Order: sequence, then C-alpha cells, then structure tokens
Amino acid sequence: MISLNINQARIDQELQTLATYSDAPAPAVTRILFTGTELKARAYIRDLMADAGLSIREDAVGNIFGRWQGTHTELPAIATGSHIDAIPFSGMYDGTVGVISAIEAIRALQSAGYQPERSIDIIMFTSEEPTRFGIGCLGSRALAGTLSPSDLVALQDNEEKSFEEIRQKAGYHTELDTVQLDANTYHAFVELHIEQGSRLEQAGKSIGIVTAIAAPATLSVTIEGDGGHAGTVLMPDRRDAFTATAEIILAVEESAKQSDSPDAVATVGLCNIYPNAVNSIPSRVYMEIDIRDIDLKSRDVMVNSIHEAVKRICEQRKLQAEVNVLNANKPCTSGENIVSTIENITQELGYSYQKLVSRAYHDTLFMAEICPTSMIFVPSEKGYSHRPEEFTSSDDIAKGVTVLAHTLARLSSIHT
Ligand code: HGY
Ligand code: MN
Ligand code: MN
Repeated sequence: MISLNINQARIDQELQTLATYSDAPAPAVTRILFTGTELKARAYIRDLMADAGLSIREDAVGNIFGRWQGTHTELPAIATGSHIDAIPFSGMYDGTVGVISAIEAIRALQSAGYQPERSIDIIMFTSEEPTRFGIGCLGSRALAGTLSPSDLVALQDNEEKSFEEIRQKAGYHTELDTVQLDANTYHAFVELHIEQGSRLEQAGKSIGIVTAIAAPATLSVTIEGDGGHAGTVLMPDRRDAFTATAEIILAVEESAKQSDSPDAVATVGLCNIYPNAVNSIPSRVYMEIDIRDIDLKSRDVMVNSIHEAVKRICEQRKLQAEVNVLNANKPCTSGENIVSTIENITQELGYSYQKLVSRAYHDTLFMAEICPTSMIFVPSEKGYSHRPEEFTSSDDIAKGVTVLAHTLARLSSIHT
C-alpha cells in the first residue's frame, strides 16, 4: 500500500473555513444554492481545487469538476465528490466532508508521488439539498439525465424566481442540454459522507461501506378551505385548512409506523399556512412530505396510503386538495466490485468497519444511474445531522480520507 500522509490539521482548518460561509449564527450552518454565501463557498472550493493543481470546469447548472489528469485519458475516469449546500440551521459536516476529503485524498496521493492511470475527477454537486427548488440532488440528477433541461426550466423557488434566472445571475450561461454525461464518462464513483445516523457509533466502527441507498419520494399537498374571521365564523360553519392538515400529518406518521418495514420513514418538514394570522381561519395550507424506505414496495405503500388519507380527510371536511409528486426515485445498489475494493482496503488498513444501507439520499443515488458506485461513511456523533450539533471527529475523518485515497488509487489503475 502507498504510504500516505493525511494532513488532519489542514482538513479541520478547511472545514472550519467553509463553515464560516453561512447565513446562520455558528455553530448552525445555512448555505442555500446560489445565494451570495454559497457563491463565496463555491469560490473557496474552486481555489482549493486549483491549489491542488486540478483542471477545473463548471457545467450549466453549477456542478464543479476538478480533474487530475491520468496517463490514460482515453479511458473512462474515476470520480468522487459531494455537496457544500446546507439546509437551514444545519451542521458543518454534511456534504462538506466529502468535498474536502476528496481534495485531501488527491493532495496526499500527489505528495506520495502517485500518478493515476485513469483520470480522477472531484465533483462538487450543485444543490444536493431540496431547500431552494424543492428537489434534492438537482446537479447529479441533471448529470444522470433524470432531470431534463425542460424539467430544470420549470423549477421555481418559493419567491417564484426561476432556476433559469437564478443560475444565469450566478454566472452559469451555457446551455442546459450540455449537462447530461454520456454513459461511459466514469468507470466508478465513490462518495465519502458522514453517516447522519448512529449505527457506526453504536457498533464502535470507524468506517461504513454503503451497499444500497434508500428510495426517496417527496409529495406536495395544497389544502384549500374558506378562511374567515376567527371570532364570527361558528365551528359548524368552518372549512379550516389547518385542522385538516393536522389530521393529515398524523396520517403521514401513521403510514410509516404501520409499515412492517423497519426502514419506513415519513415526515412533514415544511408547512406554510395562509394567511397565517392568529384571528383568521387558515384558508390555505401548503406542505411537503418526505417518504422513504430501502424497500421500494413498502415506500410506495406509504405514498398510496397518504394519497388516500388526504382524499378521505378533505372529503369529510369539504375541502379541496391537490397532491403533486415532486419526486419518487428507486433505491440504488452499490457496485459489488467497488464495495469489495473499499472492504479490502479497509481490512488492509486494519480499520473497523461494517457494511450498511444509507437511509439518507446522496448524489451517489443518481451517479449510480451512469456508473458503478459506493460510499464510505464516517461516524456521526450521537447520529446527529441536519442540526447544529452535527459532529464527526477529525480522527474519523482522517480514516475516511485514507480509505478514500487508497480506493481512488486502486480504481484509477487500468487493471481494475
Ligand atoms: O435528505 C437527505 O437524505 C440528504 O441529506 N439531503
Ligand atoms: Mn443533507
Ligand atoms: Mn449530504
């Protein structure tokens, strides 16, 4: 095995610097696609990639690619990477660990005098979080072709600004139909990410090797009632959109609790009430529902039962309801060869590890549409994620980087 020197202090420093690009007070991080803060963070990542001697290109949706040219440029390359956008009031490790670790893995390989045969790309994916345009993994979906140019043009944020307008303002002017990668661009893709759960910590393992990624679905539901004066409309005469929403939220929770699959989860994380005044009966509610399971059938049973609950509750309460499926994706299975490569390296390094399924989705879910993939997880303290207390130790990150660096070296050999 190549002997590598992983510069832990530099990784820590770069993660801390990245965390300062935030629209929330530390230790929380908010970094939404194409805001001024996120554009500064993008510039910082481009600088780190350039300092590592990578050749940089950005595509029409803002995916950033840093390439370490191999000796066999005619062959499909290897890729790694993750995201730097962060949902409101979240933590500093989700996504960023994968981007900074990828840069550090390449710097360590360069310092060790390694020369890749297949080129190695680091991809910083645009908008892995659904926060601004309501769909997660926007950049990797576009790369895989599961989000077409016309889908992208139709996207609007909650101020009704179009993705098209926002991306152009951010300086991304090339044609959207240039984004999709052709099928043999990459030989393999591996993403390093925090687990965002507590299985590694509970099992006392340093490394997770991801064998599959859960299937995410997101519904939007709009409930229309009458509204009116909170003092003068008597209870029998009301068509209150928010009390119906309360019943629907409990039905969403029940659909997951009723499931016989332990991985079934369903959440109403976003809910807007109109007109949102204490003395006015809610006339309209907009909510989004996140539904997931490793098992696609079980996930779809939940989706269907939620559709039925919305229909039943709104009929009983004489309300109008509109349900839209914002996304419903299938799960992905990791490439066997990639999993075994990571497992062999982890064993050779003597690190404790376990194989597991990712309950969070990642850009890897869509990269799996165009090449064999897997992920390397590092532990999340107490399983915390998408909250300011998110934490992964520097030692655990360094182990993840070491596994990633050796994996990239092994996969970039023309003999794998
Ligand atoms: O929601 C997810 O699974 C990811 O963290 N965006
Ligand atoms: Mn996330
Ligand atoms: Mn993430």
